[in-house]
Amino acid sequence: MRKIHLVDLQTQYEKIQEEVDTAVLDVVRSTAYINGPEVKSFQSELENYLSVKHVIPCANGTDALQIALMALGCAPGDEVITPSFTYVATAEVIALLQLTPVFVEVNPDTFTIEPEAVRAAITDKTKAVIPVHLYGQCAQMDEVMSIAREHGIGVVEDTAQALGSEYHSAKGSKIKAGTIGDIGCTSFFPSKNLGGYGDGGAMFTNSDELAAKIRRLSNHGQSKRYYHDDIGVNSRLDSIQAAILRIKLRHLNTYIEARNAAAAFYDSKFDPIPQLTIPARCSWSSHGFHQYTLKMTGVDRD
Ligand SMILES: Cc1ncc(COP(=O)(O)O)c(C=O)c1O
Repeated sequence: MRKIHLVDLQTQYEKIQEEVDTAVLDVVRSTAYINGPEVKSFQSELENYLSVKHVIPCANGTDALQIALMALGCAPGDEVITPSFTYVATAEVIALLQLTPVFVEVNPDTFTIEPEAVRAAITDKTKAVIPVHLYGQCAQMDEVMSIAREHGIGVVEDTAQALGSEYHSAKGSKIKAGTIGDIGCTSFFPSKNLGGYGDGGAMFTNSDELAAKIRRLSNHGQSKRYYHDDIGVNSRLDSIQAAILRIKLRHLNTYIEARNAAAAFYDSKFDPIPQLTIPARCSWSSHGFHQYTLKMTGVDRD
């Protein structure tokens, strides 16, 4: 049987090999390995792509979620609402910060958080909610935002699987995933829709105040060299990764189109099989197809 990779990173690399090899060598020769010009250029190019005021790159998507919760001022004992069905990192960072994860159900068709379940889970200890745009489709952000604003809680979007996907707001506008809540977080893990050749992540926000805090927290709590105002972490994106991500960002829409074409092909083959349910497409979001997931009934899944 032919082995089929989840993502064919080899072919993807071969198509941009010359550009990538040159960019990586340029960084090596420049010796600007940390926070060099490539990181700054990537940051502003991603800000343009997302139409968001601030992008703050960091070391990985898990750090991005942790720093986002720290920036919102979450303190031990606070509750954070998160879907019961997500990648472990979402809940892991909540526990790591000694916060209490409060799990709520997801919509069984789209696998994104149920807004009414969020409302029902709010207590006077709730500090934030983390909607996860699982598999590449956005959660119902209009509803989540209005519930969060009503109760004065923060919203951290976990966009690790949906960078480039668009949320269709009730007002008619299309907004990039991760730019709707207070802070959006993403991962540049190699298999992600925008993946580097190692670990990487970023946070997005339209708030100047939160951006300054996030920058400080991801750099040892330092606002000025050797002035450590907060307890922070050391979480930076390497210049080599930034150089690669700059090239791949230019192809991100094409990568997403290719994922959608593959999904349409899978649909045509799987839909006629009665035991399989193909992925639902919701009305409020485009799909980035980070994952193509089938539901099975009446069969042994294993
Ligand atoms: C939904 C979700 N959140 C968070 C993460 C964590 O990202 P990273 O692996 O870059 O730490 C991932 C990636 O695996 C993810 O899929």
